[in-house]
Amino acid sequence: MCSIIGILSKDIVAPALVDSLKRMEYRGYDSVGIATLSTDNRISVRKGVGKVGQVNSLLNLAGMEGFVGIGHTRWATHGGVTEYNAHPHPCCNNNIAVVHNGIIENYLPLKEELVKKGHIFRSETDTEVIAHLLEEYYNIGRDIKHAMMETVNHLEGSYAFVAMFANGTLSCARLDEPLIIGISDNTYYASSDVLGFLQYTDQAIFLDNRDMAIIDRAGGVSIVNFSGEPVTRSITKVAWELADANKGEFAHYTIKEIFEQRTSVKAATYQDEHKIRAFCDSIVSASNILVTGSGSSYHTSLIVSMMGSRLLKKRFEPVMASEFQYNMDSIEKNTVILAISQSGETADVLSATKLAREAGAKILSIVNVQTSSLARTADVSLSIKSGPEIGVAATKSFTGQMSLAYAILDRISGGKIGFDREVISDKISKMLAQQESIERLVNITMPKVNDIYLLGRSIHFPIALEGALKMKELAYVHAEGIAAGELKHGPLALMDKNAVVFVLNPDDRTYSDMLSSAHQVKARGAKIIGISNVPNDIYDAMIEIPKIDNDLLYPLVEIIPLQLFSYYLALQNNANPDFPRNLAKSVTVR
Ligand code: F6R
Repeated sequence: MCSIIGILSKDIVAPALVDSLKRMEYRGYDSVGIATLSTDNRISVRKGVGKVGQVNSLLNLAGMEGFVGIGHTRWATHGGVTEYNAHPHPCCNNNIAVVHNGIIENYLPLKEELVKKGHIFRSETDTEVIAHLLEEYYNIGRDIKHAMMETVNHLEGSYAFVAMFANGTLSCARLDEPLIIGISDNTYYASSDVLGFLQYTDQAIFLDNRDMAIIDRAGGVSIVNFSGEPVTRSITKVAWELADANKGEFAHYTIKEIFEQRTSVKAATYQDEHKIRAFCDSIVSASNILVTGSGSSYHTSLIVSMMGSRLLKKRFEPVMASEFQYNMDSIEKNTVILAISQSGETADVLSATKLAREAGAKILSIVNVQTSSLARTADVSLSIKSGPEIGVAATKSFTGQMSLAYAILDRISGGKIGFDREVISDKISKMLAQQESIERLVNITMPKVNDIYLLGRSIHFPIALEGALKMKELAYVHAEGIAAGELKHGPLALMDKNAVVFVLNPDDRTYSDMLSSAHQVKARGAKIIGISNVPNDIYDAMIEIPKIDNDLLYPLVEIIPLQLFSYYLALQNNANPDFPRNLAKSVTVR
């Protein structure tokens, strides 16, 4: 969602603020702003609508003076995309400025009260109440710690914010949103993402929920809880290679990350023996398992649930994280929740696991970001180790999650899947080698198409859903994943000569039923693209997938052509595949 950064240094901070915001821009990006403190203790704010590069060219953000500063990229939740609503938000007398990620649920009553007390608001955002609350309480005793305590005790919702005071102090607090302090020789950072400072230091303190930190030149970093009691948090060395966060020779992060799947499916399966054993033991001893996630991670949950039930003869129930709160009745003492999330920060997933824990369940998680809130709060967490996924659409994290899940289920079932990471990587490479023919297929098939349907049965149905999601979010084309058996119950009415239909049709036990579904749509004039290893005249075009010994592994390869197709469709539609409109990488609001 939004990204926040604060820096206190012996060097001028504006260039580093801009650099950090660029690296975090994937989280949200409709407007940008920076506030710095000049040497005569005046807070200056520059902000505008657009991407970091655009706003910087226009307003010369990187040229601002000062050794302390805060910055923000916004993804609008409260209030339109305007310069006024962009952060940082100053208080009335301009002695405090604030950047914030999250939602202040009770901002309206707080705002009314503050207005009655004479505060003047300049934006429609929920964030601005934080600046005015801090001002209100700071004016009483000139004590930043107490102003922070009073402020957070009035706020309801989820938030991470950084405030800059005109005396040169940075203060920050978190509740259900990530906030990390970076420390180098002469500089301190407070950021919503390690990518905000990883280019400068790998030494980090991950603040816990209800932690506040006060950072100043005299005392360095001091951390207290919301009641003001000192707490000790250890310094962690953050392991990720920054080089991974560059595009390399690729035009976009998305295509780079699609190609990285050759190796990321393997990386996901190298796990610490002690941890993976604990993970598997928890699944084996559970009486029922709820598998949850959002978006693409929910599609992984569907596959995991189908496979888990089939292989382990145990109840695996997929539940969308956003629906979890309404579907908790089956949770009992011996229930395990398997939460799947790339970022480990998705609010719906965190809320689901919180509710489940309160109901007595054990939490297992599969994440990419091993320092994330989900990883840190789960009983056992495994990382897929895909490296930073910058493209907003999930690609390598999706196959990384599946790969790890396959490895886990294979292990528990005594090798029933026959999962071999080298073989899978090789099959994925073969799919990627079809890049050019898939690009040509997009150019031939798609110019006039408005509706795409993807048909799958059994474990191919979640891939149909995932393929449709990629086409919607990357290329802005209406696309629907359909369980092919459901065609006759409604969707068949939509099929005509304008529809393009993908059929996921490897030669497994779904093959002949899928072929008859293909005939049903062909008879209505739709154009059919087969994804199969068996040629058939019914296909107007075919994307050939390699034969795989165990049918259960097909999802890992059949998603690759759909990712490539969506990417090239995005280019054809002049959409930026890395940063789809209206979407953000980490959805940290509910
Ligand atoms: C789709 C996509 C989103 C995410 C969803 C969950 O391409 O990226 O649907 O899958 O927002 O995010 P994580 O996995 O970080 O919990």
